Amino acid sequence: MTAPVLELDGVHTHIGAYHILHGVDLVVPAGQVTMLLGRNGAGKTTTLRTIMGLWAASAGALRFKGRAIGGKGAQLPTPEIAQLGIAYVPESMGIFTDLTVQENMVLAARSARRAAELDTQRLEWIFGLFPALQKFWLYPAGKLSGGQKQMLAVARAIVEPRELLLIDEPSKGLAPSIIRNLIDAFGQLKRQDTTILLVEQNFQMARALGDRVAVMDDGRVVHAGAMAELADDEALQQRLLGLSLGAHQ
Ligand SMILES: Nc1ncnc2c1ncn2[C@@H]1O[C@H](COP(=O)(O)OP(=O)(O)O)[C@@H](O)[C@H]1O
Ligand SMILES: [Mg+2]
Repeated sequence: MTAPVLELDGVHTHIGAYHILHGVDLVVPAGQVTMLLGRNGAGKTTTLRTIMGLWAASAGALRFKGRAIGGKGAQLPTPEIAQLGIAYVPESMGIFTDLTVQENMVLAARSARRAAELDTQRLEWIFGLFPALQKFWLYPAGKLSGGQKQMLAVARAIVEPRELLLIDEPSKGLAPSIIRNLIDAFGQLKRQDTTILLVEQNFQMARALGDRVAVMDDGRVVHAGAMAELADDEALQQRLLGLSLGAHQ
């Protein structure tokens, strides 16, 4: 296993009066895709939001490349966490539907205030991953299909080099053929050594992309290991996820 980019040690998160995360331990190695699985309400989204500092951890430690970014007495504000190199694609995608695809990309870039200032080489690379974005470059993002909007949300997160991508349920509500396109695009990102922490219910995507897997239940990580090991063990899938993943392809 390569050196971890991100480590969570015993992370607790409270939302108001509710105690949601109960000691999350998680290691995300560099250059790999780590899948975060688990039932609805297990705490996956809360974990991503805690990593970004959108919720403050009430106990435990969060480290990015060895540096404390959260935990008691060590909480960095969200913009600083983003600045360090972590990009977050929330479930809601966070795109501006009234603005063009181009404007959405410019707004996501720290180093560009106008389209002409976007890094053209990087843009070509992004268009290679998501050809629809080039095609609809000057269209309002609201005109894109659900899958294309998801691609725009991911493209915004990679408009500039980032060391770690956090992506929350990108396939939710998408047709199988669109999911296959997303798997292809994420597969290309992965081959370029992008480190990704991906929350995903779709097991086809989880199995196709995941190197490592962490399964959450009730605010804790209850299993961590190689994705291949979980993919090959239906009894383990049943126990951890309460479903036969082989039947959900
Ligand atoms: N803003 C909130 N206020 C109160 N409870 C919340 C809030 N967000 C999430 N929760 C609760 O925290 C638990 C974990 O939610 P979440 O992290 O969204 O789970 P998942 O992403 O795994 O489905 C759930 O019981 C959910 O109801
Ligand atoms: Mg969620």
